[in-house]
Amino acid sequence: MSFPISSALPDGRGAEAVALAAERRWALIVGLVIALLVLVMIVTGLHWASMPPSRVETVDVKTLHLSGEFVESNLGTAVDPDGKVTVRLIAQQYSFEPQCLVLPAGVPVTFRATSTDAVHGFVVGTTNANTMLMPGFVATFTTSFPHPGEHLMPCHEYCGTGHEAMWAKVQVIEAAEFFANARNGERQSCVPR
Ligand code: CUA
Repeated sequence: MSFPISSALPDGRGAEAVALAAERRWALIVGLVIALLVLVMIVTGLHWASMPPSRVETVDVKTLHLSGEFVESNLGTAVDPDGKVTVRLIAQQYSFEPQCLVLPAGVPVTFRATSTDAVHGFVVGTTNANTMLMPGFVATFTTSFPHPGEHLMPCHEYCGTGHEAMWAKVQVIEAAEFFANARNGERQSCVPR
């Protein structure tokens, strides 16, 4: 079945000419969209290639447990002399050390973490605290938890057969309580002893 497409429209133009014009307009729009996308790729590619990588901090996996900031006694949440809160932890197949973190609510907290073996990662509950942990590199970020509460902190990078059993707990407590406990200078943790 065919339609007589060469018949004249009310304005006198042929239907074929109208279709052709619409087709050309559409081809032009699609061409512009493709050109824009290619331009965005080129610009971002050049921009990323010309920038130095964001802060890279390495750590020796072989001596991690023996000396430096990731020795066992230095893991957990600490209040630095300047009042900043830093939590240090390590990930290993298949656990986090410490297994439970105590953090103050509403205060910026800096995480410093690394892995001793495979690639791990963690996310704290439904917060934006989320990072990947690579052996040999220190992952660090600063965030704050507005409300007191408990979160699960699972490993979110497949790291082996025990991956799904690898998680820690995070207890966010009132800042006043946290800093009162911190006064004796001890690392805070909620691991049952
Ligand atoms: Cu560690 Cu998955």
